[in-house]
Amino acid sequence: MNVLGIETSCDETAACIVEDGRKVISSVVATQIDEHSLYGGVVPEIASRRHLEKIDRIVALTFEKVNLNFSDIDVIAVTNTPGLVGSLLVGVNFAKGLSFSLNKPLVAVNHLKAHIAANYINNEDLKPPFLGLIISGGHTNIVRVKDYCNFELIGKTVDDSIGEAYDKVGRALGLLYPAGAKIDKLSKIGDKNRYEFPKPTVENNIFDFSFSGLKTAVLNKINQEKLQEKKIIIENFCSSFQKIITEIVCEKIFLAAQKYNEKKIVVCGGVCANSNIRENLSKIAGLKGIKLYLPELRYCTDNAAMVASQGFYEAKNNNFEKDYSLNAIASYQFK
Ligand code: KG4
Ligand code: ZN
Repeated sequence: MNVLGIETSCDETAACIVEDGRKVISSVVATQIDEHSLYGGVVPEIASRRHLEKIDRIVALTFEKVNLNFSDIDVIAVTNTPGLVGSLLVGVNFAKGLSFSLNKPLVAVNHLKAHIAANYINNEDLKPPFLGLIISGGHTNIVRVKDYCNFELIGKTVDDSIGEAYDKVGRALGLLYPAGAKIDKLSKIGDKNRYEFPKPTVENNIFDFSFSGLKTAVLNKINQEKLQEKKIIIENFCSSFQKIITEIVCEKIFLAAQKYNEKKIVVCGGVCANSNIRENLSKIAGLKGIKLYLPELRYCTDNAAMVASQGFYEAKNNNFEKDYSLNAIASYQFK
C-alpha cells in the first residue's frame, strides 16, 4: 500500500510517499527555519502563509522525483494535531481537497504518533508493544505504545518542552533559533563539569518532566557572569547544560522501562538528533539489555515520511475519515 503523507504542523512543509509503512519512495521537506531564525522562534502567521505558498509544489515534486503520479497512491495521510492551528489547516485542507478530487481515502495522523513511526522506516523488526520517548521542539512525553494506534501517556512536561529549553538557553547564549544542534556541536569542545545545574524534581508523577527551572538556572548563571564582567565561554555552558539534560532523559526513560518491564525503547523527535543523548541512551540500553531504536537523523526533525508511515497503520486499522469534516486541533492529549 502506497501512502502519501502530508506534514505542515509547524515550520516544515513536507510530503512523502511510503510503501507499506516502512519503505520511503520519495520524500521532500521544505524548511522555513531561516526566515523564523530572524525572529528567534516560529512566527505562526508567517508559517501558515509559507505553507500555503509551497504545499502544492512540494507535493508535486514528491511525485516528479520518482516519476509517479496520483494514481500510484492508495491513501492520503495528513497531520491534523497537535501543532500551530493555521499551519495544520493548510495541510488538512490540501489533503481533503486531494482526497475528494482523486477519490482516495483520507486518514488523520497525530504528529506525536508520527514521530514514533519514524522508527518503523527501514526497521522491519520493530513492532509494538514498546516504550516510547518523544523529545521534540513542542513535546516531551513518555508513552506506552500498546499497538500502532493505541498509546498510553505515562509522563509529560509540566512546563517547557525539552526543545524549548534548548532553544531558550541557546538564545541567551546568542545562538540563532533553533539552537539545539548548535548547542550539541559546541558542547563537544566545552567542559561539562564547569557548571553544576540543578536537576528539577517533579511532584506527583516521577515520569513527568520539568525544564523551566533548569532553563532559569542557566539564564541566571549567564546573567551573573555578565554582571561580573566575566568572559562568557559559551561552550562550557552548552556542555554543562547538555550533560544535565541527558541525565534527566536517561534517568526517566530507564526508570519507566524498569517499572513497566519494557525491553524495547523507541526514541523520536528533533531533540533525539542530539549526539550526547543518543550516545548515552545507547550505552545504558546496552548495559541493561534493552533494545533501543533511534530514527535516522533525517527523520528526527519534522518530515512527512513519519506521517505516511503512521498513516499506513491508521489505514490498516480502518481509521478512515468518513466525510470531509476533519479539522485541525492545536493541542492534543493522549487518552
Ligand atoms: O521534532 P521537531 O522538528 O519539532 C517539533 O515537532 O516540535 O524538533 C525541533 C527541536 C528544536 O527545539 C531544535 O532545537 C531541536 O529539535 N533539535 C536538537 C538537535 N537538533 C534539533 N536539540 C538538541 N540537539 C540536536 N542535535
Ligand atoms: Zn515534530
